[in-house]
Amino acid sequence: MGPHAASRPLTLSEQADELEEKMMNELNDKIATKSALFAMADGSLDYVGGAELQARNPGKYFLMGADPRLPKMPDKPTLIDFFKHRFVSMNHLLQSATLALKAGNEEKVVLACLLHDVGVAGFIRCDHGYWGAQLIEPYVAEEVSWAVRVHQALRFFPDESVGYKYPDMYLKYFGPDYQPEPYIVDEYKRARSHKYYMTARLICVNDIYSFDPDAKVNLDDFVDIIGRNFKQPKEGLGFDNTPSSHMWRTLMWPTRFL
Ligand SMILES: [Fe+2]
Ligand SMILES: [Fe+2]
Repeated sequence: MGPHAASRPLTLSEQADELEEKMMNELNDKIATKSALFAMADGSLDYVGGAELQARNPGKYFLMGADPRLPKMPDKPTLIDFFKHRFVSMNHLLQSATLALKAGNEEKVVLACLLHDVGVAGFIRCDHGYWGAQLIEPYVAEEVSWAVRVHQALRFFPDESVGYKYPDMYLKYFGPDYQPEPYIVDEYKRARSHKYYMTARLICVNDIYSFDPDAKVNLDDFVDIIGRNFKQPKEGLGFDNTPSSHMWRTLMWPTRFL
């Protein structure tokens, strides 16, 4: 706190200055930048260019590596490292995978359940099935990434043959009048006759929508299944020159200037 704090309430601009000072300390005097998408999430298209940002922070350089406010990642990160240090909703994934395991599903299905929402957990909500599938595609069987991609669409359509109903939670979240967009309907129709349809459908069946605080789930239970079904690159995720390596790097360094 600054010396002015005791005598009177801070003005808004003083509060902003203090916040910025606190952040700079945490950042080891580097300037972290928010990408356009982060600003859009606040409903804003405001953009402050590099020159102006640096002028506001004289003598400082931009952050071009790891953000010290986030957990440190190893030099050659594995999927497990991303689970532990980057994914924000690990419990949902573990509960779904645990359910799939207990139901006696084969390993590919269990892995698909474990990874089905990595898009949400590490990246972005909008079209999370597509993002998640793209992220894992170079490392898993086609069946797994295909299922992760289309679970996004299948969630909205019942399948009585496996006892899957339209989720009550979607009624609560989106209202009774919500209709999936045409591209989601088309995806569902294509998926219906696909050879991996049931793998994607089983993601929906095992998708847990209510957090159970008593559920005992542990990432350790899935280390062997990951080892057998996820091709961990020896260089580390992000450094292996696949079509999604840049996505893993962005997850690692979300505030890098470039
Ligand atoms: Fe999902
Ligand atoms: Fe889910």
